Amino acid sequence: MKLLVTGGAGFIGSNFIRYWMREHSQDEIVNFDLLTYAGNLENLKDVADNKNYTFVKGDICDRDLVFNLIRDNDVVVHFAAESHVDRSIMDPSSFIRTNVLGTQTILDAVREYKKRLHHISTDEVFGALRPGEPAFNEQTRYAPRSPYSASKAASDHLVCSYHTTYGIEMTISNCSNNYGPYHFPEKIIPLFISNLMEGKKVPVYGDGQQMRDWIYVEDHNRGVDMILQKGKIGETYCLGGKDAEITNLELTKKLIELLGRDESYIEYVKDRPGHDRRYAIDYTKAKKELGWEPLIDLDEGLRMTIDWYKNNQEWVGRCKSGAYQEYYEEWYGR
Ligand code: NAD
Ligand code: TYD
Repeated sequence: MKLLVTGGAGFIGSNFIRYWMREHSQDEIVNFDLLTYAGNLENLKDVADNKNYTFVKGDICDRDLVFNLIRDNDVVVHFAAESHVDRSIMDPSSFIRTNVLGTQTILDAVREYKKRLHHISTDEVFGALRPGEPAFNEQTRYAPRSPYSASKAASDHLVCSYHTTYGIEMTISNCSNNYGPYHFPEKIIPLFISNLMEGKKVPVYGDGQQMRDWIYVEDHNRGVDMILQKGKIGETYCLGGKDAEITNLELTKKLIELLGRDESYIEYVKDRPGHDRRYAIDYTKAKKELGWEPLIDLDEGLRMTIDWYKNNQEWVGRCKSGAYQEYYEEWYGR
């Protein structure tokens, strides 16, 4: 099989490619990525020489390139997106362009060449839960609340509409917050790990009582694999973490303890505008229909993640240099 992976130089996509090459070593993979600030070929340097792996630098909005690549592959796994909520608050335009128009370009090519598409989405399209409310599932109404989640919701609707209207073969996964190796240090877990390693404080938004459901990236990617093998065309699957619903403050305290710091490293900062209070995922459908469930709990996943960051401090240093500094000062200095 020939797999076209969009956004394969980012956090989840690079872990997916490494996973796929290990589990399906006979398949050919083309990694198609624009290499924005979040894309990094260093994430895949251990597989770069494999004869079954090819990298193509380009934009998912580039129609000619997208059509040529999709024509020459069998399956498209679509990760490419602008993915950071805070950056979408600072400037939504690139989110609409890549996440909505880029996905439309992919869909037009998938339609033209009759290829199978798996679209990677997020639980953030469902909006925010109150404490105690039942977790999101495949029936939950879409109610996105940030420019990021609205752009992902739009892309999901487009994918479904191309299935209904043109009969394209698609599946979607809506996954909770991922963490693990190669996670760009602007999201809470890698940012806090790297700040604590560097002896810097960690910026907790508002009262720190927001809740997230954390999934180790390998569990997510195994879920995508099972959807590609056994998922029903036209269906959506919710993927979530293993007993991993936790407030940001509890998570911060866990990281502080695992890294041998103390609570004086917590700095409460201005809240994110429109901050979603809680996300949680009910993955019963994936368990029943695919036999999928997450295997790595939060404590084990955090230990593995911290070990990876300790062993890859140069990678972190390079991510946090240059333009990253400007972003950090602009956002946290608001
Ligand atoms: P990321 O920001 O780390 O990586 C995104 C990748 O897409 C980068 O390599 C970037 O260069 C590439 N890209 C961006 N714009 C592009 C364009 N116009 N053309 C081609 N490539 C482009 O993101 P991630 O955390 O790996 O997320 C991957 C996908 O998973 C996204 O669709 C995201 O919405 C979804 N998702 C993420 C999470 C999470 O917790 N990180 C949770 C659920 C779903
Ligand atoms: P993030 O990692 O940006 O993921 P998302 O917004 O997609 O869930 O943020 C996770 C949670 O951590 C979210 O409630 C916002 C909070 N947060 C902080 O408190 N401080 C920070 O510096 C960051 C980046 C996030």
